[in-house]
Amino acid sequence: MNYKTLFGYVTSSVRKGLVNNLSRNMSTGRFRVYITRSDMPESGLDLLKKKCDIKTWKEASTVPREEFLKSVAGVDAIYCTLSDKIDQEVLNVAGPQLKVISTISVGYDHIDLTECKKRGIKVGYTPNVLTDATAELTMALLLTTSRRLPEAQLDAKTGGWVSWAPNYMTGPGLKGATVGMVGFGRIGQAVAKRVKSFETARILYFSRSERAEANEIGAIKVEFDELLKESDFVIVCAPLVPETKEMFNKSAFEKMKRSAVFVNTSRGALVDQNALIYALENKIIWGAGLDVTTPEPLPLDSPLFKLKNCVVLPHIGSATIDTRNTMSELTAANILAALHNAKMPAELK
Ligand code: DGY
Repeated sequence: MNYKTLFGYVTSSVRKGLVNNLSRNMSTGRFRVYITRSDMPESGLDLLKKKCDIKTWKEASTVPREEFLKSVAGVDAIYCTLSDKIDQEVLNVAGPQLKVISTISVGYDHIDLTECKKRGIKVGYTPNVLTDATAELTMALLLTTSRRLPEAQLDAKTGGWVSWAPNYMTGPGLKGATVGMVGFGRIGQAVAKRVKSFETARILYFSRSERAEANEIGAIKVEFDELLKESDFVIVCAPLVPETKEMFNKSAFEKMKRSAVFVNTSRGALVDQNALIYALENKIIWGAGLDVTTPEPLPLDSPLFKLKNCVVLPHIGSATIDTRNTMSELTAANILAALHNAKMPAELK
């Protein structure tokens, strides 16, 4: 959905809207929205400012928990990021007038959805609009890891590049490889389509549900263990839910090929990070590319930063300029629709 569609949607929803929420700012008659950082993309904020009173954490950083708890009391809506934990404590201090929480992310593992539902609080998120950006970054990370780009660049800059040499900076190629996708939703499928253009031999996927789109892509559904055993590249695009938490543990890494490249652009918590460090240090797998870690940011003394066979990025999967603007607009549109009792463009049910 682009900006214009979203804006049209919001204004028509508002026009139609049954504006009956009594908890609005009594002096201005406007809704109160709390925004958890000062640097949210402007296009979304502009939509909100027309209709709401905005209160924003003053810094371009994650709002400290204590400040967050103090600031949400009495607001009608919270515009948050994946770094803001929305739990019972936040909902309690916010108060019963809180109508909607809207996160500028497709992942929503930071939100206690059950508790929100119980209290009738709507929850918005940003699916679809970041699929392509995240798939592109996943491909970039895969190739950066397998073709050892950070290591090669460092060598070139620091005098390690002595001559062309036949075995210098070699790594596994995608052509003819078997690629295993763990999670085959929107992002997994978008990655698989891109992977296919590299003339891979097979694309396998593991998913809790049957995916009709797999036929068109030519991906084959397999059990998790088979995927681990057969894949030259294992790409994680599954959401974090109780069933996927630390599914990549010691036993999973031991089932993978010693030549395998592991790529995770989903959530760090799908991986037992100590088991991954052990697998990389002991060459149980060939290498790993991570856009997500536990915790985030990853402490500078993490062994992952010291390993040559590991590339770590600072959670930038959706970070194209247009994507972030559209995510901000969708986050705002979700809030405006919910506040006006209209259908939200992307509601989590
Ligand atoms: C998400 O949206 O959940 C990504 O992890 C960040 O854009």
